Amino acid sequence: MNKKALNWAELGFQYVKTDYRFTAFHENGEWGEGQLVSDENISIHEGAPSLHYAQQCFEGMKAQTAEDGRVLLFRPKLNCERMNRTAPRLLMPEVPEALFLNAIEETVRANYAWIPPYGSGASLYIRPMLIGVGENLGLNPAPEYEFRVFVSPVGPYYKEAGLAVISLAVSEIDRAAPNGTGSFKAGANYAGGLLATRKAKELGANEALYLDAAEHRYIDEAGSANIIIASKDGKLLTPASNAILPSITRRSIMELAAKSLNMETEERPIDLRAEFANFDEAGACGTAAVLSPVGKIWFDDDWHNIYQDGQTVGPIMQKLYDLLVGIQKGEISDNFDWLHEIEI
Ligand SMILES: Cc1ncc(COP(=O)(O)O)c(C=O)c1O
Repeated sequence: MNKKALNWAELGFQYVKTDYRFTAFHENGEWGEGQLVSDENISIHEGAPSLHYAQQCFEGMKAQTAEDGRVLLFRPKLNCERMNRTAPRLLMPEVPEALFLNAIEETVRANYAWIPPYGSGASLYIRPMLIGVGENLGLNPAPEYEFRVFVSPVGPYYKEAGLAVISLAVSEIDRAAPNGTGSFKAGANYAGGLLATRKAKELGANEALYLDAAEHRYIDEAGSANIIIASKDGKLLTPASNAILPSITRRSIMELAAKSLNMETEERPIDLRAEFANFDEAGACGTAAVLSPVGKIWFDDDWHNIYQDGQTVGPIMQKLYDLLVGIQKGEISDNFDWLHEIEI
């Protein structure tokens, strides 16, 4: 099967229309089997709760091509688990694991020509989404739901390819309240963050960094990635917070640090100002961000350097990146059983 003649190395993180998407409906309390369709447009009732009250959620994952041509997903069952944690929070029906995985496999397979080849630096981003459809003007859950999966070949999330150092700016706008929806992948969290991202970019940063909403002291997360810190006393730290999205990438990196690098790891509240001097390296991690080293952070009206300006990535982030990406691309043996191969 031939691949599309795309300039894979030039791709950014943007939507590219592919040939097929999968759609399934939940009606009268039951999921239909679903099917592949070619129309990228969704026809939706103007009174749908997903449009008015943000009764919708989504997931994000990637498929990669290994050197031997295998098409690999990374821990997709955890994305299903997370969607099924978010759905009941928003009074939406759970998506059965078999439907979730089948939808992803069928969509990836049908769009084989769009899966970036091994070594191109690009991957196939997969976006599962669950939306409340049908009419309900009152503030009540939708009568019906659509589960849809589409894919798009993507390059690096931040402009610079590979392991370029990024910067973050602490946001004065909060992302999520302590007992709000921050730990769920609800689209509403992201609408509220658009302004924070814009302000961070105006300051010259790649992304916003959120501190906890109650005290503005502890690191929560970046706009679309969790945070990890390599401390000067040799530990890998990551914030404990019930307002951040539990990142599958972070969970994997923490495990790699502990088991493959024998590092001591700690998930605990991290006071940005009090502990900054103990930061040796920092990184933003997620499906889209992969592991992007953080070189400097803007807070209290100034830039605070972690890496000296222009410095390339430090050794811990480099090792963690190599391990993570090596497993995801099938280059390093998958001792953790994290890969899920799609039969083409
Ligand atoms: C707010 C937020 N935090 C963290 C992450 C990282 O999560 P994951 O590693 O599961 O992609 C994402 C998504 O990529 C996100 O949107």
